[in-house]
Amino acid sequence: MSAYILDWLNLLFRWLHVITAIAWIGSSFYFIWLDNSLEEPSPENKKKGFGGQLSSVHAGGFYEIGKYKLAPPVMPDNLHWFKWEAYSTWLTGFFLFALMFYVGAESYLIDPNKSQLSPPLAIAMSLFILIGGWFIYDGLCKSPLAKQTWLLALFLISLIGALSWGLEQIISDRAAYLHIGALIGTCMAGNVFRIIMPGQRAMVKAIEAGKQPDVKYASASKLRSVHNNYLTLPVIFIMISNHYPMTYTHPHSWAVLIAIIMIGAFARHFFNLRHKGITKPSILISATVALAVLAWVIAPTQKPLQTSAAIEVTNEQVLSIIKQRCSSCHATQNTDSMFTAAQAGVILENMDQIRQWAPRIEARSVLSNDMPFMNRTNMTDQEREYLGVWLQSQK
Ligand code: HEC
Repeated sequence: MSAYILDWLNLLFRWLHVITAIAWIGSSFYFIWLDNSLEEPSPENKKKGFGGQLSSVHAGGFYEIGKYKLAPPVMPDNLHWFKWEAYSTWLTGFFLFALMFYVGAESYLIDPNKSQLSPPLAIAMSLFILIGGWFIYDGLCKSPLAKQTWLLALFLISLIGALSWGLEQIISDRAAYLHIGALIGTCMAGNVFRIIMPGQRAMVKAIEAGKQPDVKYASASKLRSVHNNYLTLPVIFIMISNHYPMTYTHPHSWAVLIAIIMIGAFARHFFNLRHKGITKPSILISATVALAVLAWVIAPTQKPLQTSAAIEVTNEQVLSIIKQRCSSCHATQNTDSMFTAAQAGVILENMDQIRQWAPRIEARSVLSNDMPFMNRTNMTDQEREYLGVWLQSQK
């Protein structure tokens, strides 16, 4: 398939994925807020079987909402389910994921500097992680461990840590992060598809048969929706993580990821409490401080020069390094087979352009090894060092 068509498909699915994810997480935020904000029902509403009520105004409309203690005595004709937001987010996400990492396996998934996996093997492994990961997660949630919410959370986070460490050893840094994101997204959508929806269907069925619905469905759904709730902020970070090489190219990128997942979940806790009328700014403040500490801990250090004598790097040397190592993907006429247009709009063909992009070249090729992309052009450490010396001399 031509790179041009692939780019359009990528655009289309990324666009749809962002739209559907906004709809899913938006409605999820809304219902969590609603549930946590319910007030004691009026005597009249109590008679109707309501356990909570809430009044709101939005866009010039006034709304009265009542929540049944368990379910209405008779099912209304038209019941809204809120499931397609989740399903379409997963479907568009999976297409985008497959387009990037399966169709583009040789560019985005396999890092020849780490392992020599063949594309079919790498893709099989990737699918196995997504499917197997869901079954392990689902099994743990149904095991006795699930009774200890904190123990389960700790165990799950350790598993994610171990998996991302393992992935970091064998596939590209970017793909390792996105695999954790895709797995978390799969578990979140799986919770809706396999647990929450079947539970709701069983409850509706019971009511239609004139029976009292079993509370076990409500409590199973509860655990899964708590997980989904706390995973929203972390999973959004992973969606945008590929823009931030200081995270995924770090030598311990798996630990950076775990730290950000925990900070994100902790920040979400602030909002959950706040909806219940408990405002604890200390949570948001400590999450922000933790993020700042993380930024400080992983800050790139200027590597000491390998060459003993102070070296001077000329403009000609810099231009020749950049031409040799970067211009296959950053030129008016790219020569790379996969990246056929100037990537990210960055063209590096003369000294003016190199100076224009100097801070980004430093971030991506000197302070991190993120560019050249997966080092497809075999840039050497010495060349990075020369580039660093030259960039310093320009400051
Ligand atoms: C094999 C292809 C390839 C090569 C070679 C390559 N890049 Fe890139 N570059 C990309 C891709 C893909 C992107 C867009 C994705 C991204 O931003 O991570 C990109 C984006 C960039 C950006 C823009 C993003 C930003 O941080 O603002 C800069 C700067 C950059 N590359 C610098 C370089 C430098 C310097 C070299 C050579 C040392 C280089 N690239 C070599 C593929 C390549």
